Amino acid sequence: MLEKQLWHPVLDAHALRDAPIAVTLLGEPLVLWRDHGAVHAWADRCPHRGARLSLGRVLTTVNGPRLECPYHGWQFAGGAAAGQCQHVPAAPDFRPPAGHAAQVFEACERHGLVWVRLQAGADAALAEPPAFPEADDPAWRRVVCGPYAVATSAPRLVENFLDLSHFGFVHEGWLGERGHAQVQTGQVTEGAQGLRVVQARAWQPRAYAEAEGGAWIDYTYAVPHPFAAVLRKEAREGDPVRNAIALFIRPDGDGACTAWFVMATHNDPASAESLVAFQDAVFAQDRPVVESQQPKALPIGRTAPVTEVHGPADRVSSAYRRYLQRLGIALGTL
Ligand code: FES
Ligand code: CO
Repeated sequence: MLEKQLWHPVLDAHALRDAPIAVTLLGEPLVLWRDHGAVHAWADRCPHRGARLSLGRVLTTVNGPRLECPYHGWQFAGGAAAGQCQHVPAAPDFRPPAGHAAQVFEACERHGLVWVRLQAGADAALAEPPAFPEADDPAWRRVVCGPYAVATSAPRLVENFLDLSHFGFVHEGWLGERGHAQVQTGQVTEGAQGLRVVQARAWQPRAYAEAEGGAWIDYTYAVPHPFAAVLRKEAREGDPVRNAIALFIRPDGDGACTAWFVMATHNDPASAESLVAFQDAVFAQDRPVVESQQPKALPIGRTAPVTEVHGPADRVSSAYRRYLQRLGIALGTL
C-alpha cells in the first residue's frame, strides 16, 4: 500500500511535550512521545499484554528517557535503542531480549508538525515530507492553523482546497461572490513531482488588506504529495505582503481525517491570532459541505460505487484524480 510508504503529518510539533500522545494514522493507533529533541512514533500497543502505551508516562532515567507502560511498568528505551524494553519492574534482574520491543516507525519534525511514515519504500519524489520552503525560511513567519478533525477522506479535502469554483457560494462575501462565480482553472502540469497549476484566477471581494473592492486574483497551486497542497497568491504590484498556505492532512482512516493549514507570511501585519481566526472561520464554512459529500472516499476507479460528472471548471480536480490513480492510492480505505 503506497499510502503507508508516505510521510504523513500526525500532530502539531509544539503539542508534543513531556507526556505521550495517542493518534491514529491510516487506522493504525500510534503513541508519540518526545525524548529530548527527538520525536518517537511507535505502535500504541505494549508488546507484553497489549495495553496502550499512550496511557503511560515518559520517565527520565540515568540511562536516558524511557516510555513506561501503564500496566506493569515495563520501560522502553528512547535514543539509539528506541523501542527496546530495558526494565521489567516485577523481575528487576531479567534482561529483556531483543524481541521484547515496541514496534517503531520513522518520525521527524517539519513545517511545525510531526510527520510519520509506517513503511519505507516510496520512490524519490515521495521519500520526504512534502516541500514547503516558505514555512522554513526565517524571513517568513509561520502560523499553524488547526488541527481540524473532519469526517471525510483526505482526498475530498485536497479537492476542496484546489477548487476555486466554490468560493462564490461557500465563502460568499469572504473569498468570492455569487455574482462573480466564473473562474479560470489555469494551466495544469502533471508529472512525477505531482501537480502544478499556474494562473488559476478567481474574483475576490476583498482580495488583500488595503483593497477597497473586488479584484481578480491569480493563484498557483502545487500538489507535491497525495494529501498535501500548497497555494500561493501571485504578488500584486506594489503590495509587499506575501502569503503561501499549505494544507497538510493526516488520513486517520475509515472516512475521517485531520487537517492543518500551515500559513507562511511575509510582511503581513496581521497578528497570528487573527490569521488563525480567519482560517477557522473559512474552514467552518467548508466543513458542513465537505462532510456532506457522499461517498466519503473519492469515487474513482473501476470499483467505485457511484460515478461523478465533471464540468469545465473541474480540470484541476480531474488532474488530481489521475495523479492518485497513477500512484495507486487505495482510496476505498481512506
Ligand atoms: Fe505493558 Fe504489561 S502490558 S507492561
Ligand atoms: Co473552501
